Amino acid sequence: MISSLPSEKDSMGKTLYNYQGSWYYPNTLQAILNYRKHFRARDTYIILASFPKSGTTWLKALVFAVVHRNKYAPNLVSHPLLSDNPHNLVRFLEIDLYVKNQHPGLEELPPPRLFATHMPFQTLHESLRDSPCKVVYVCRDIKDVLVSRWHFISRLVKKEELYSNYPVEEMVEKFIKGAYSFGPFQDQVLSYWKESSVNANLVLFMRYEEMIEKPEAQVMRLADFLGCSFTEEEKQSGMVEKILELCSLGNLSNLEANKTGTFTCGIAHHAFFRKGGVGDWKNHLTNEMARKLDEMVEKKLEGSGLKF
Ligand code: A3P
Repeated sequence: MISSLPSEKDSMGKTLYNYQGSWYYPNTLQAILNYRKHFRARDTYIILASFPKSGTTWLKALVFAVVHRNKYAPNLVSHPLLSDNPHNLVRFLEIDLYVKNQHPGLEELPPPRLFATHMPFQTLHESLRDSPCKVVYVCRDIKDVLVSRWHFISRLVKKEELYSNYPVEEMVEKFIKGAYSFGPFQDQVLSYWKESSVNANLVLFMRYEEMIEKPEAQVMRLADFLGCSFTEEEKQSGMVEKILELCSLGNLSNLEANKTGTFTCGIAHHAFFRKGGVGDWKNHLTNEMARKLDEMVEKKLEGSGLKF
């Protein structure tokens, strides 16, 4: 089935396949097919969705801390986030759980069950629409996503080759063309935006920039959506601020667990923490590149009510 799909070669000669409008490497696509065949939505499933490099790690940490705050008090002394990477606490459906296992036993996990995905909305199961599941989507400006991805990929190659063999121009070209892992960005963003507009109980649409600008308000919005609003007492006791501090880039990136660990795929835990914030693209992209990317996104989002 996979080999019959439209395909493209990436710059290293690896084949990407197009499935339901998105591009994937074969092992991810096989996991998606496993997921589509076997996943059944259950109560208390929470799915955190994002385009890679949009703030997934932060969202995972925040949601984990929010929904488990009665079980694990958010402090800087003893909390699961202090000893494990957020990606181990909230695992990806298609790049982790369903990779080697058609039945990863999701329902055996204690509720609330948190999972993550980079799939577009149309590829998440249809059964989600009629379920009490919750989907939280985080998006970020395409230019910062691109630059973050470029740094991430560059850091995966050997240190001495850093950046030299992966020009940012190539990444821009890829984004414009659309054929790159989980791309095109704008199609995915639109898929979640549309669903959040018609089905606000199912999909919460969040923006990384708003989380940076007004973190307290966004965390409270998150808790409201997930059905575990902060009580007045919790707000007075500084619970929201404590969660934000626990999940901050500064705190997480300085933990031993994130400075040293490695995932089974070989990627270092620290690769998911860099500079954070808004607008780093200005240090790496020309105005012409920025204009092309913005125009492409605007064109796709025209008439949708979503603006960057
Ligand atoms: P930069 O590369 O711009 O620094 P993802 O988690 O989707 O892979 O996205 C990674 C981006 O989110 C990186 O952006 C990373 O630095 C940033 N990030 C990771 N943890 C964060 C946190 N706790 N708060 C804010 N940003 C965070």
